[in-house]
Amino acid sequence: MSLPTHRPILALAPMQDVTDLPFWRLMACYGGADLYYTEYFRVHPDSHLEKPILRSLDENPTGKPAIAQMIGNDIPSLVRSAKELQKHPVVGIDLNLGCPAPIVYKKCAGGGLLREPARIDAILGALRDAVSCAFTVKTRVGFESEHEFDTLLPIFQKHAIDLLTVHGRTVKQMYRPGVHANLIALAAREMPCPVIANGDVFTAADAHKWMQETAVAGVMIGRGAIRNPWIFDQIRGSSDTGVTGRDLLGYIHDLYETVTTPNTNELAQVNKLKKYINFVGTGLPRADEFLHSIRRVTNRSAFFQVCFDHLDHSEPAFSHQGADCGSE
Ligand SMILES: Cc1cc2nc3c(=O)[nH]c(=O)nc-3n(C[C@H](O)[C@H](O)[C@H](O)COP(=O)(O)O)c2cc1C
Repeated sequence: MSLPTHRPILALAPMQDVTDLPFWRLMACYGGADLYYTEYFRVHPDSHLEKPILRSLDENPTGKPAIAQMIGNDIPSLVRSAKELQKHPVVGIDLNLGCPAPIVYKKCAGGGLLREPARIDAILGALRDAVSCAFTVKTRVGFESEHEFDTLLPIFQKHAIDLLTVHGRTVKQMYRPGVHANLIALAAREMPCPVIANGDVFTAADAHKWMQETAVAGVMIGRGAIRNPWIFDQIRGSSDTGVTGRDLLGYIHDLYETVTTPNTNELAQVNKLKKYINFVGTGLPRADEFLHSIRRVTNRSAFFQVCFDHLDHSEPAFSHQGADCGSE
């Protein structure tokens, strides 16, 4: 397998503790992405490739290409890990230049590296030499300010990377509104490789808007896919019916069965589900009420009762079926 050659490329975003092997399988059952990214492998001088993440690659159930993502800043360790990862079924190796968690960026990894362009230059050069499959980068547009992208873009252009994903926010912006569409469009114009837009795609209309306004090769979707796994088919036009409350209820049942381990503590199962349900609940018409109730449940039957109370209907499930959800 290789990177998709058709357009648009629809990618499932890497999401730590979310996009593991069972979740990939679930997404594939609902239509699925064209390209899958692993959660990041933490890379440092003492690191070993995390076995559960390797399993996603070795047993990739999606039938679609997968890219292994790394986070770190130590060049020998990154080169070593990239070489090891290429022994597994990957079409590409990705470097994370966007993680906004202070615990990561304070160590000058993920989004923290955006403060040190010379270091990025050196890392990309070393990794380009070490990676014989596709070498890809996922970046934010700057650390403090979007003006930093003027310095970053020439570095990305220099290293013959095969695919660039741009999350159009700065690290300091975290997830606040204001995705810089103009900078994604700039990258799509100036980069010699395909560019994928990322940030706030919650509906097919959002994705089509991105593709028209920025001429990117595709979109990467994170939270929008947790909320609405039909989104990839909706973008493709192969699923034109809206998602009803009952459809969503069915998905939440599937999600529960997929991400929890049977015969484990029920409270732990419910708490695990709450992490996903946060992303689902924010899209519902009575989001505050739903989330308030769901945060208080402590067992499976109470969890599904709240879901049933809000979603046992044949009306559109989400308050924004086709509207823009906050991207600039
Ligand atoms: C729970 C969660 C975990 C994430 N983990 C990663 C990660 O491991 N690697 C990465 O590059 N981005 C990670 N991200 C960022 C997403 O890949 C994506 O860039 C971001 O959510 C914006 O896209 P969206 O608006 O479609 O969600 C994570 C995001 C979330 C919400």
